[in-house]
Amino acid sequence: MSAVEIPVGLRELLQGYTVEVLRRRPPDLVEFAVQHFTQILEGQRREQRAKKSSAKPAKKGVTFEPKSNQPDKDDEEEEDTVICAEAYNPDDDEDNDTEPRVVHPKTDEQRRRLQEACRHIVLFKTLEQEQFSEVLDAMFEVLVKPQHHIIDQGDDGDNFYVIEKGAYDIFVQKDGVRVCVGKYDNRGSFGELALMYNTPRAATIVATQEGALWALDRATFHRLIVKNNAKKRRMYEAFIECVPLLKSLELSERMKIVDVLGVRAFKDGERIITQGEEADCFYIVESGEAKIMIKSKVSTMAALQDAEVEVARCTRGQYFGELALVTNKPRAASVYAVGETKCLVIDIQAFERLLGPCMDIMKRNISQYEDQLVALFGSSVDLKH
Ligand code: CMP
Ligand code: CMP
Repeated sequence: MSAVEIPVGLRELLQGYTVEVLRRRPPDLVEFAVQHFTQILEGQRREQRAKKSSAKPAKKGVTFEPKSNQPDKDDEEEEDTVICAEAYNPDDDEDNDTEPRVVHPKTDEQRRRLQEACRHIVLFKTLEQEQFSEVLDAMFEVLVKPQHHIIDQGDDGDNFYVIEKGAYDIFVQKDGVRVCVGKYDNRGSFGELALMYNTPRAATIVATQEGALWALDRATFHRLIVKNNAKKRRMYEAFIECVPLLKSLELSERMKIVDVLGVRAFKDGERIITQGEEADCFYIVESGEAKIMIKSKVSTMAALQDAEVEVARCTRGQYFGELALVTNKPRAASVYAVGETKCLVIDIQAFERLLGPCMDIMKRNISQYEDQLVALFGSSVDLKH
């Protein structure tokens, strides 16, 4: 009988997998194998890319010259951008902690405006206080005029942007057609994808009025935000795997969600969502409980009064706050924490970009809300239109 030749590296690969299984005791061996070997593959690709890019010239910076008189770049060139879930792993980066800290001096008034603009930025919500201060130190102000292209699809990524004020259109070029896929209106952030995944810009962002932005340079974004993402993946990977809504997504799609999510903690009784307000994010309960309350007319001895009636509760792994994002309407209910409650938060742009495949499940659940409301209040309701 001829001896079977064992391919070079096979033994080490299987040993590595076995050691990780014994160390981390995953509930599902096959799913864990997919994750484990995907990480190895990503590491190899990163290495190859690093080798290639060390031979490339330095990346160009963005200029904020008005582009209104220039031909639209999207009309000339078409780029189908693929975003992969391959996060840069800062633990592999030897120079990471030796890079100089970037500080852009600011007046007290500028710092106050910057802090206010960054207060609800989901990507900053998992940073330690010290890291957050470093981010604020490194940010610099960028004033823009109508028609400024802050980002052009297909370009290299230079900065991440937080909106202080102004309105901005988001265009994506698909199959030769430039489509406006959304807008930012005086809040939010953009430009994280190219920096996180080392890919070309995935969309074009154009100011539609005068505005003010705060920019964070690529190197500081890597050192602080992407480093924090590696930690986030370790912390939330297992939990995200168990969220029923996200089961139908590919592993790489779930990891993209982990990369952009933030975490918010609420005290017992604290309001998380207010009925009637404009919506900008989506929530998944990580721990504790969320109570959904709807305002309804209740007759008392004296008159008809507005009172809140409890319609549902969400516990670990369940979600809320999708309805207003799907219907483009104000929040349909208020939501309160029951006990100390922690939620994962995803902003509206990431929700629209990443949760499309879960839309059918969400729409089915919205129909259940309608049934619930009929049962509670007697009259029929149309939440979707
Ligand atoms: P980046 O690819 O670095 O630059 C363009 C930015 O547009 C992107 O990061 C996101 O922050 C933002 N964006 C908003 N909506 C979308 C979308 N639907 N597809 C891609 N990028 C989007
Ligand atoms: P949204 O309207 O964005 O904010 C309030 C959330 O409460 C809503 O999304 C749903 O996620 C959640 N919810 C749960 N049950 C109901 C219900 N019966 N009617 C409306 N919203 C509900």
